[in-house]
Amino acid sequence: MTQPIPEDDLIVSDWYRDFTNSGVGATLTKRLGLPRPAVLRRHEPGAPLLPGPAVVGTAGEGRLRDPLTAVLKDAGVTLLSPVTADGGTDGERTAAVLLDATGLRTPADLAAAHDFLAPALRRLAPSGRVLVLAEPPSEAADPAQAAARQALEGLVRSTAKELRGGATANLLLVPDGAEGGLAGPVRFFLSGRSAYVDGQVVTLTAAGATDGQDDDRPLAGKVAVVTGAARGIGAAIARVLARDGAHVVVVDLPAAGQALAGVANEVGGTALQLDITAPDAPERLVGHLRERHGGVDVVVHNAGITRDKLLVNMDAARWNAVMAVNLQAQLDLTQALLDADGLLRPGGRVVCVSSQSGIAGNRGQTNYAASKAGVIGMVRAWAPALAERGATINAVAPGFIVTEMTARMPFGTREIGSRINSLQQGGLPVDVAETVAWLAQPESTGVNGQVVRVCGQSFLGA
Ligand SMILES: NC(=O)c1ccc[n+]([C@@H]2O[C@H](COP(=O)([O-])OP(=O)(O)OC[C@H]3O[C@@H](n4cnc5c(N)ncnc54)[C@H](O)[C@@H]3O)[C@@H](O)[C@H]2O)c1
Repeated sequence: MTQPIPEDDLIVSDWYRDFTNSGVGATLTKRLGLPRPAVLRRHEPGAPLLPGPAVVGTAGEGRLRDPLTAVLKDAGVTLLSPVTADGGTDGERTAAVLLDATGLRTPADLAAAHDFLAPALRRLAPSGRVLVLAEPPSEAADPAQAAARQALEGLVRSTAKELRGGATANLLLVPDGAEGGLAGPVRFFLSGRSAYVDGQVVTLTAAGATDGQDDDRPLAGKVAVVTGAARGIGAAIARVLARDGAHVVVVDLPAAGQALAGVANEVGGTALQLDITAPDAPERLVGHLRERHGGVDVVVHNAGITRDKLLVNMDAARWNAVMAVNLQAQLDLTQALLDADGLLRPGGRVVCVSSQSGIAGNRGQTNYAASKAGVIGMVRAWAPALAERGATINAVAPGFIVTEMTARMPFGTREIGSRINSLQQGGLPVDVAETVAWLAQPESTGVNGQVVRVCGQSFLGA
């Protein structure tokens, strides 16, 4: 059996990033015109939302400027006026640039977006955040307005590809009536929690406002269950949920029992050894949650396996094993939790781990990609029913994440896999975990049926 690689070693193992950020390495890579991946700004409990001021602009008569300003002021963010950001009066760099584009009527109005963003981006600090807020094209009054709104997607995705220094750009679509759910998503996209979420579009639903939350311990008093939590991304999810205040039930195969117990001890949670594909797995999970905790608030379907082969060479065993763990178990466990009267508490959160392969496809992974695409279909189909219970279900789709699996890839494959994204580096398990934890927050009630890629804007699959 191979020895596990300590997480710290995985985290510091981006030799190229470290080299290009050293004195001689920085000079050399600049001269040679080589990519220079930045050290990303990640969440630290207790740290301010932004390390510097923000600037807010509008394109047209936006309706979100006031609620947006209120969210930022609430979070203690200093606001600069666009004029200051523009041309060089005091030279202060901004940590975030926000554009309220809900007022767009026609493509001609996009010129205002350009006029605001171009000078503001020149002032953006390293690991800065660009967040554009708009209304969904599907709810436009006419084709011209739909065109203008859709155009923002091209603008934001391209901006994300142009930014350097660990900065990101994302688009938040806020339909009329959904502004009550603005605070949580805006804070996520500005914070270090979204370090590896780049070039993404998230659409809010009008789910009503929440009462606010303690941003340091937003999951205090909640019970969470995480499958596949003995190592890798699942263990990171358990750690972040516990850090955010949840009691975490960690689930994994009996064969991983020792590592699972280690994670449970570390996070002050409980371990449940369970093969999630076993016929009695739904019943055992429901029974455990009912008896030990009286219910559950957050369910994270993270367990997943790969059994790669070209389709022409793939035997039924490979196909079936991947489908059973990655898709059927998520369906069966979720159904059982929903059927168990009152078990999923009001405000419940289900987060399903999909994959970039489920969006883009991947050679040798027809089984895996099919299972992960199936997860996305499941999430979208279940979202309305969960909304009726005041709950949500979403998917996260990781891109290249530095885990034991990827650390053991051949050097060349790993280097290429980790660089072909806008941030020019692989993500860390904690990046996926932070996104899961955000979706689990009370203030994420307006985020439902969404697929959030945690991929650094990977060039695979848009
Ligand atoms: N690492 C990446 O780059 C990456 C990218 C995209 C998606 N993902 C997805 O993220 C999730 C976690 O990936 P990881 O890299 O941490 O994988 P991993 O192999 O390190 O961990 C998966 C865990 O799931 C457990 N598991 C497998 N079958 C199980 C079963 N039947 N019942 C209970 N537990 C079971 C394993 O024992 C293991 O502890 C998976 O769903 C994976 O498909 C990972």
